Formats: sequence, C-alpha cells, structure tokens
Amino acid sequence: MSTVDVCTLAELPSGQRRQLSVEGIDVSVFNCEGRLFAIEDRCSHDDGPLGEGDLDTAACTVECPRHGAKFDLASGRPLTLPAYEPVETFPVTVEDHIIKLEVS
Ligand code: FES
Repeated sequence: MSTVDVCTLAELPSGQRRQLSVEGIDVSVFNCEGRLFAIEDRCSHDDGPLGEGDLDTAACTVECPRHGAKFDLASGRPLTLPAYEPVETFPVTVEDHIIKLEVS
C-alpha cells in the first residue's frame, strides 16, 4: 500500500481534477463540491481515459470520453452502458490541508 500527497486542498477546487500515477496505476482525483473522490483512470469498457471525461459535480459522476459511459465517483460503478463493470476506487483523505491518496 502507498499513500502519496496529491496537492494542497486549495490547488484542487470543486470541478477540478488531478491525474497521477502511483505504483503503475493511473488515478484521477476529483473535487465534487467539496467531496473528494479517486478512481482508476481507465474505463472498464475499453480502457478509455476516464480522468479526462466530463465531470458532473452535482451528481458526482464522470463520463468516459471514448463511448460515453457514466460512472459514479463514490462507488466506481457504471450508471450507463456500454460499461457494465465497476472501476476501482481509492481512499482520499486530507491532513493539514494536503490531499492524500491511498493506493493498494
Ligand atoms: S471506453 Fe469508456 S465507455 Fe467505452
């Protein structure tokens, strides 16, 4: 398991995202109106770059830019086809205004 610093809380305001690679896993961290989520940056349908998709901060969803499947950021579950398998999610915490990501 690895815990890494993502950035400061001020550097990731609502509606923004950070993409990083931890131990060979590409992860995207999102701020949805103050709630922080991290998911694997690889769509379960056909490996699309989920972290680059449209973010809906009210619903806390991201839409895959390749074929349009929407994923719930909290659970990693797809809400629409063509994806039907969930993507991995990762714990995010804040300590002393630093966003920390745990990847195992
Ligand atoms: S690769 Fe994401 S919906 Fe197809």
